[in-house]
Amino acid sequence: MPSPSATSHRPSPIGFAPPFIDEDTIEAVERVLRSGWITTGPETSAFEKDLAEYVGAPKVVCGGSWTGLAGVILDWFGVGPGDEVILPAYTYCATANVVLHRGATPVLIDLPQSGQRDGLNITWEQVAPLLSPRTKVVMPVDIGGWPVPCSAWKTALTHWVSQHGFKGDHPMQAALGRPLLLSDAAHSLGGRSGGHPVGAGADITVFSFHAVKNITTAEGGAAALTLPPPLDNAEVYRTLRSHCLHGQSKDAASKYNSKGKGQWRYDVTHPGFKCNMTDIQAAMGRVALKRYPADLQHRAQLAERYVERLSGLSAVDLPQRSHEDRHTADHLFIIQLQEGMSAHRDAIIDALASQDIATNVHFPPLPVLTAYRERGFKAADFREAIGAFDRAISLPIHRHMSLNDVDRVVDALTDAMANLKGQAVS
Ligand SMILES: Cc1ncc(COP(=O)(O)O)c(C=O)c1O
Repeated sequence: MPSPSATSHRPSPIGFAPPFIDEDTIEAVERVLRSGWITTGPETSAFEKDLAEYVGAPKVVCGGSWTGLAGVILDWFGVGPGDEVILPAYTYCATANVVLHRGATPVLIDLPQSGQRDGLNITWEQVAPLLSPRTKVVMPVDIGGWPVPCSAWKTALTHWVSQHGFKGDHPMQAALGRPLLLSDAAHSLGGRSGGHPVGAGADITVFSFHAVKNITTAEGGAAALTLPPPLDNAEVYRTLRSHCLHGQSKDAASKYNSKGKGQWRYDVTHPGFKCNMTDIQAAMGRVALKRYPADLQHRAQLAERYVERLSGLSAVDLPQRSHEDRHTADHLFIIQLQEGMSAHRDAIIDALASQDIATNVHFPPLPVLTAYRERGFKAADFREAIGAFDRAISLPIHRHMSLNDVDRVVDALTDAMANLKGQAVS
């Protein structure tokens, strides 16, 4: 690399996950702002249809966030005190917070030992022994965009219930006849598993469109409904939509925009939440979804360049890449430093920051967080997840980056590691 001279200027900073807001996005938002209708309305309905087609689900419902949607889904399924929800310890707090909000118990699973890992996801072999009559939901997380094979999990769950039975103490639980497979796909829109897109494999799959996600609507989320009969996805869609809007039987668009007599009349059928998506958000999402196949290709090229450049580096383990019938959405590029280097993780992050390269760490496992420690979860029971977290650095990967940027990150990383190794020896 040429050494910087007094006349050369610094290369531009590489952010961690800046949103990709192009002119089409700005035009779409402007169109909605000028339309006279800015909250949930035709644009949100159109985004729901676009998403349903993209993920191959009969119905998609949009909401204000992953968290809002996951919460109303747990309520719809009657999850409450005494119920258990199985989920990984290595995830963002939202996955478990929504369970605590319902007064239910998160049953946390450690990462498998290295050598038996599936990316940074939990495996079915870990879930099966924890299933019990109290289990109402199984909630795997597609960490970094690497999809859990949900259709295989659904088959295994159905088989388990055929042997052990299931007592649903709520009408929706009785109708499904087994625990709900609720996929946390906050990272994995566009991934594929078992021959179908993420969104078609679980019972319900929830995506996030938070500002750092592959597709963003600033804040927002969507739930793909692929429930088996006798549950009717169209009916569940109407219920969840209404749960996101105070339990109103009609949303504002149907009240104000319809011309019939008494169009203002509505009922509140249950005390719902307020976590609907606005048409402004949906306009952003629709543009991003149209562009998304190209964005995914771009992400894959960046990830492949990282792999090509880093695979010779023995001090670093690389993330799972697409293989056979599973394809990642390349949301995060989480590298794992090997034992000798993990003590230097923060110094490496600082060294990259000094070169204007932003990184991140995903995730502090739930048992190291105060809220979960105080609820009795012990770090000692989650050694694998904590070990993975201690060694993790998420390198930047996003639509604003070029292959040259990847090279810059790799050069800065290798320099930092060489310097730190040198210091450790001297
Ligand atoms: C794994 C995971 N689940 C859930 C969420 C929550 O998403 P939202 O911010 O849309 O509520 C996030 C957000 O970062 C996440 O990373």
